[in-house]
Amino acid sequence: MPGRGLRVVRGAAAMRAWSRAQRAAGRRVGLVPTMGALHAGHLSLVARARRENERVVASVFVNPIQFGPAEDFRRYPRDLARDRRLLHAVGCDALFAPGVAAMYPAGFQTRVDVPHLARPLCGRFRPGHFQGVATVVAKLLHIVEPDRLYLGAKDYQQARVIERMVRDLDEPVRVVVCPTVREPDGLARSSRNQYLDPAERARAPRIRAALRAAAARVRAGEKDPRKVRAAVLGGLRGVGRVQYVEVLDARTLDPVPRLAGPTLIATAVFVGRARLIDNVVVRA
Ligand code: PAJ
Repeated sequence: MPGRGLRVVRGAAAMRAWSRAQRAAGRRVGLVPTMGALHAGHLSLVARARRENERVVASVFVNPIQFGPAEDFRRYPRDLARDRRLLHAVGCDALFAPGVAAMYPAGFQTRVDVPHLARPLCGRFRPGHFQGVATVVAKLLHIVEPDRLYLGAKDYQQARVIERMVRDLDEPVRVVVCPTVREPDGLARSSRNQYLDPAERARAPRIRAALRAAAARVRAGEKDPRKVRAAVLGGLRGVGRVQYVEVLDARTLDPVPRLAGPTLIATAVFVGRARLIDNVVVRA
């Protein structure tokens, strides 16, 4: 699999020059933005990008402006040497790993805001989070200038926010949202699964089970979002501290009195010190 070798790029100008040279030679470039601590979920995006583009760039940048003051920015797992090996093994062409000062030099203040889509779900509990995400992804798009941008459906709201930002700002890139990669027992792969102790790890797959059971009720004809929400909460009993369970229109992320069409069922649960999110989209 490994072919041309992995180039590690630290600076924005060097990254842009590399990417422009690829595109000038007629090669399409796919971008996979990440915060590192790579796992099979991230690598599935790289693999997909590799199938659809002649060149693939992965970025690894733990983005300080998307973390709240009480969140895990400092202890977020970082292992660039390992990330580099994994990316090399799946045939990624370039790793963009800028420093914080390169991305946010003194005086930086611009924010990209997608206010309506950022309001519910994680946005309610992580003020400024999606501004931080949209801002860094806009910067990455301007640095790498990719043809396609690869995102995971595990972070459903994030994907919706970025899709909207791309449309609203006329970013010349195609957004590709890829399915959630899971452990054999159903737990969504996440860099934050590292925080789980064995007992917590054993309970965590019940998040997925609770979402699936609720989705089955929707498929069987349940139209009342409150009943679907109650079903999820029932399934989550004893798993951890539930931050939210929401049942929304999957396109607008608005609440609806009766379910109709694509429906998002999403939750965030603290299992020990790990904040885990997962979701399912089902047609009502
Ligand atoms: P991070 O959590 O590292 O995730 C990077 C990308 O991998 C995101 O698009 C995410 O949805 C995807 N991903 C994570 N777990 C996945 C899984 N189990 N299956 C499939 N895809 C998965 O999301 C971020 O970083 C940041 O917010 C970022 C977009 C990089 C901006 O800083």
